[in-house]
Amino acid sequence: MIGFLGGTGPEGRSLALRLAMAGEEVAIGSRDAARAKEMAQKVEARGESIRVVGGENTEIVGMSDIIFITVPYEGQAALLGALAPSLAGKLIVDTVAPVSFQDGKIRAIDVPEGSAAQEAQNLLPNSQVVAAFQNVSAVDLWVPDRLIEGDVVVCSDHQEAKERVMAIAERIPHIRAVDGGALANARYVEEVTAMLLNINRIYKAHTMIRIVGLPERE
Ligand SMILES: NC(=O)c1ccc[n+]([C@@H]2O[C@H](COP(=O)([O-])OP(=O)(O)OC[C@H]3O[C@@H](n4cnc5c(N)ncnc54)[C@H](OP(=O)(O)O)[C@@H]3O)[C@@H](O)[C@H]2O)c1
Repeated sequence: MIGFLGGTGPEGRSLALRLAMAGEEVAIGSRDAARAKEMAQKVEARGESIRVVGGENTEIVGMSDIIFITVPYEGQAALLGALAPSLAGKLIVDTVAPVSFQDGKIRAIDVPEGSAAQEAQNLLPNSQVVAAFQNVSAVDLWVPDRLIEGDVVVCSDHQEAKERVMAIAERIPHIRAVDGGALANARYVEEVTAMLLNINRIYKAHTMIRIVGLPERE
């Protein structure tokens, strides 16, 4: 089961939808069980023959072996601090891109640990944190038949966990997973989100990234 902490927001619900459409079992988490159940029904209604569970964040952690963090950066530390014991031994996918929207300007937030993903790994020493999906627009994911032609750069210090998340990302049609190396590199991926959001504002678009120059796959 793949559970989404803060799965009631655009990013969590949209990734849950696409992964459920790809055949994964998914669960929407929230601080409020009723809100999670309501969103689970909305996600189910957007896909064909998919089943989505909803529940309070702690309940979702209990039933999931893979946990996506889809809360705002400002809420991540307190949430993970509280859930750390029950997250031990689990694979954590951090989608958080720390961005501020102050005074009409979109900027990447400086994170003392280097990145939101490194902060998560520090808070969860007994979990395997993988950083991914920070550059994928929730708006496009939420429309079931919209093509998502871009790269998901995946960073982690846990090779097996990283490969597992790369395979999960590629279950969404046309997404390509790119190995971004160690978790320390997640800061660069997170900061690209601020660049994309600025470009989106200028072009009134929902952009993604595509890395060129990689060897062809066999
Ligand atoms: N939106 C995008 O296109 C996009 C793209 C790439 C990456 N991301 C990343 O994905 C994450 C979620 O984005 P979003 O747009 O879905 O965010 P959001 O709507 O602001 O928040 C998602 C959910 O997080 C929960 N939440 C909010 N504040 C919280 C707090 N202080 N503590 C615990 N839970 C809290 C809420 O759920 P409950 O109230 O139900 O608990 C909320 O519905 C962000 O870190 C963002 O950087 C977003």
